[in-house]
Amino acid sequence: MTRQEQTFVMVKPDGVSRGLIGPIITRFEQKGFKLAAIELLHIDRALAEQHYGDLKAKPFFGELVDYLTSGPVCAMIWQGEHAVENARALIGKTNPVEASPGTIRGDFAMDIAGNIVHGSDSPASAAREIGLFFGRHAAPHSFDLLGVNPI
Ligand code: TYD
Repeated sequence: MTRQEQTFVMVKPDGVSRGLIGPIITRFEQKGFKLAAIELLHIDRALAEQHYGDLKAKPFFGELVDYLTSGPVCAMIWQGEHAVENARALIGKTNPVEASPGTIRGDFAMDIAGNIVHGSDSPASAAREIGLFFGRHAAPHSFDLLGVNPI
């Protein structure tokens, strides 16, 4: 039996404002993923800091949190075989300069500080991030829902 997984994917604020939710969803659907959950939301600094908690010591952390809270994001759960690894392959390398054409970052982004999309880097990260954004225990003040009910 093949390995079914879920992974957490987020279109970051510049991806949303540039109208790239659709093209990004299309790539995941074309690859064979199934969409399990989707939410448009504006996250606060506390949630952004938790999401990127492992990068707290990095010099770019403050700018990263500024960027992630600068506008709505589109949070999604995608499901499929080896979903975590398949999503990372579809998204491409962290730095768009190094991301191959054909990947999302390779085709749609220019700069590491605006690489338009996030994908969990391991099954453990996926579980943690899905819990943060979609869990029943997510703090109600963590984000403003934009017209859609949480699952
Ligand atoms: P990271 O978790 O290393 O990469 P990925 O998003 O591919 O899992 O970094 C998280 C985000 O931090 C990354 O998408 C963009 C930002 N970032 C910078 O702004 N500058 C940097 O030098 C690095 C490594 C990341």
